[in-house]
Amino acid sequence: MPKVIYIEHGGTAHEIDVPVGENVMRGALYNNVPGIAGECGGALSCATCRCFIDDAWAAKVGGPATHEERELLEAVTDLDADEGPARHNVRLSCQISMTDDLDGLVVCLPAKQYA
Ligand code: FES
Repeated sequence: MPKVIYIEHGGTAHEIDVPVGENVMRGALYNNVPGIAGECGGALSCATCRCFIDDAWAAKVGGPATHEERELLEAVTDLDADEGPARHNVRLSCQISMTDDLDGLVVCLPAKQYA
């Protein structure tokens, strides 16, 4: 089963098995990884699953945020307030489905999900 490495804002890493077909948001929630809220359950309406994809993985997860992701992120978050080396690779983790090719995916989490 492919693994995702979730890295909290403070640097704590969580290596989690996430089944193929499951999304990265649920992989965190089902394994009590702090830093992801996922309030809407993946319906693309809350943006509380915001994350930052490590540069080495940005293209493999499908590239930058989609138009729909970007619209939601800009409407309900303060992207300029995010910090961290991968903040330019912001995505909504509920929109990233696991595949075998994503084994080892590194996902950085924001300091907080709520403005
Ligand atoms: S869980 Fe709500 S947008 Fe991803």
